[in-house]
Amino acid sequence: MDKKYYITTPIYYPSGTFHIGHCYTTVIADAIARYKRSKGYDVYFLTGTDEHGIKIQKKAEEKGVTPQEYVDAIVADTKELWEALGITYDKFIRTTDDYHVETVQKIFKKLYDQGDIYKGEYKGKYCTPCESFWTESQLVDGKCPDCGREVYEVTEEAYFFKLSKYQKRLEEYLESHPEFIEPSSRKNEMINNFIKPGLEDLCVSRTSFNWGVPVTFDEKHVVYVWIDALSNYISALGYLSDDDTLFKKFWPADLHIVGKEIVRFHTIIWPIMLMALDLPLPKKVFGHGWLVIDGGKISKSNGNYRDPREYINEYSVDAVRYFLLREVPFGSDGNFTEEALIARTNGDLANVLGNLVNRTIGMCKKYFDNVIPKQNELNEIDNALIDYAMELPNIVESNIDKLDIPAALEAIIELFRKCNKYIDETMPWVLAKEEDKTRLETVIYNLLACAKHGAVALKPFLPTTSESIFEQLNITDENISEFATLESGKTLNEAKPLFMRIDKTL
Ligand code: MSP
Repeated sequence: MDKKYYITTPIYYPSGTFHIGHCYTTVIADAIARYKRSKGYDVYFLTGTDEHGIKIQKKAEEKGVTPQEYVDAIVADTKELWEALGITYDKFIRTTDDYHVETVQKIFKKLYDQGDIYKGEYKGKYCTPCESFWTESQLVDGKCPDCGREVYEVTEEAYFFKLSKYQKRLEEYLESHPEFIEPSSRKNEMINNFIKPGLEDLCVSRTSFNWGVPVTFDEKHVVYVWIDALSNYISALGYLSDDDTLFKKFWPADLHIVGKEIVRFHTIIWPIMLMALDLPLPKKVFGHGWLVIDGGKISKSNGNYRDPREYINEYSVDAVRYFLLREVPFGSDGNFTEEALIARTNGDLANVLGNLVNRTIGMCKKYFDNVIPKQNELNEIDNALIDYAMELPNIVESNIDKLDIPAALEAIIELFRKCNKYIDETMPWVLAKEEDKTRLETVIYNLLACAKHGAVALKPFLPTTSESIFEQLNITDENISEFATLESGKTLNEAKPLFMRIDKTL
């Protein structure tokens, strides 16, 4: 089996403060990376920032700082946010890093030398107050999509990338690799809306601003957007550098997770770039939906913005991670509201998971002075619960393989639900009263063991919670190949509530 796994998020525009929607892709990628590591894969998890372009240049000018100073501050803040969210990336790439700039320049030159990039004329629409170029299709009622004002026809010298030359090869590839774009609805959209009507060559350089990677053989040009941005996935691994060990080891990527609006660039421009460079294509591009607030975009101007760290501080990092991973059906859009975050935390995390662990450890303290009891003879009710706990890793794995993380989490929470039901059915307090010690021991043992199995399954998704359960159970080992691996006679640590019920009226 191929035991390496290369996973990426998009690189983010550091053009303002990050919102909860930006955390969505990154938390999903982190959970998958952690899961694959736990399965013994050698994982390389890449994230980073996409720092060039006219927008950044203008924002820096507005602030009276250099573009580099402007992005440096945001990048530092971004790294703090990822740390607060527990993101375990292996590398953070910045498109302003020297090695990336050099690789982009080499790629651009190579494509030019082999005739895939040529010089031509860019004809487009220009909005003078916004200093922005737009294509016909980006205009709204023929006007600038940003400010709504008149736009003017302009012509600018530019380099173009011959997408059209590779159209047929791309179509054949998508046809023969149905797993390449997921969900499949996005694949059909790409083929029918963008590829079939015919690919136009792509403008890949600009002369009207200079905050970008300079074209080495024609200095008034800077590389424009996608060749710069997409190359990050291979420049990060040392492609075309003196040391390409990582590239040899990890390319092709196993998974690019991207938001739905950039699937197009990852499944048309990127594969064509790779074909032109004679490199293998990534195994999969998954286009997820958006997190929206009341159906609209999350942004400062919409007045619905809060720094994600405020939610983390108020509700805990695992409450936020759980919400992002669980709430949105993967692939579709989902609504973010603080009420929904509270409902998830109170429902699944406090009432089901937290309550079960707390009750179980509390009963062990009450009936056995905190010492793990023996597991005696099992009956049908026990076996049903144990069978589910033992099947859980397989259910989680098959859902992760489908990238259905909400379903994986639902299966884990279901174990805790089943445990709460098991308590209702076995009624430990009655067993204690009747002095049926043998049965009581078995019941408490099974519950403690289930808490362990649940904690192991939760680890990639809610690492802090999982660690806390391990700590309370006084264990470090993760052997779950058998059910009854807890050591009878060992003392538990003090019970600590995992999630407090939130009583907040919004
Ligand atoms: N820089 C490009 C990506 C280049 S990748 C070679 C870019 N950056 S971005 O900052 O605008 O977006 C980064 C990611 O965040 C995208 O996948 C985008 O879909 C995602 N999201 C931004 N807002 C989002 C939500 N409200 N909800 C979910 N994801 C969102 O695009």
